[in-house]
Amino acid sequence: MRKRIIYSICGVVVAGLVLFGIYAWHPEIAPVTPPAKDQFPAATVAHGKILAAAGYCSTCHTTPGGQEYAGNYQMNTDFGTIYSSNITPDPETGIGNWSETAFIRAMRTGVSRDGHHLLPAFPFEHFNKLTDADIKAIYAYIMSSVPAVKQQKKPTVSHSR
Ligand code: HEC
Repeated sequence: MRKRIIYSICGVVVAGLVLFGIYAWHPEIAPVTPPAKDQFPAATVAHGKILAAAGYCSTCHTTPGGQEYAGNYQMNTDFGTIYSSNITPDPETGIGNWSETAFIRAMRTGVSRDGHHLLPAFPFEHFNKLTDADIKAIYAYIMSSVPAVKQQKKPTVSHSR
């Protein structure tokens, strides 16, 4: 009897670990060659520009006086000082080699292209109401109209409390 209880507890624990593993693990989405700037329809780009403004993307992704969308805007949170990402189309330090699929996943679930979870300072939960078409328009706007800037993102500085 006792053995059975122990076995079933172990079963639940193992099942929980497996489920957590599935939840926490996200595959990398392969990098792509940066899309050609002229491949996006002008109307889509214009729509994306409006949505990017409405989503305050540049507010959080630009340092005061810095290059637009190049990131490193500093945010002080309870768990440390974090910096926003470079979301210009630079393939090395920005999102130039992100496919549309990788961009949609980040906007919907807060997972970066390489599979790591982004901190909730990136308010992806506020972007839930955006349709796929809306997110694709933002992607089109960034990839076609935002100048690529090479700027490495600063690492998060954790508070030791
Ligand atoms: C409240 C501030 C804030 C707003 C508004 C915001 N972001 Fe961000 N965003 C961040 C922060 C901070 C990060 C980095 C999080 C991390 O490193 O864990 C980030 C990360 C990202 C990433 C992931 C980049 C990478 O290399 O992993 C993308 C893509 C992104 N933001 C796009 C956008 C877009 C598009 C908008 C507008 C619709 C937007 N963000 C609005 C703060 C913001």
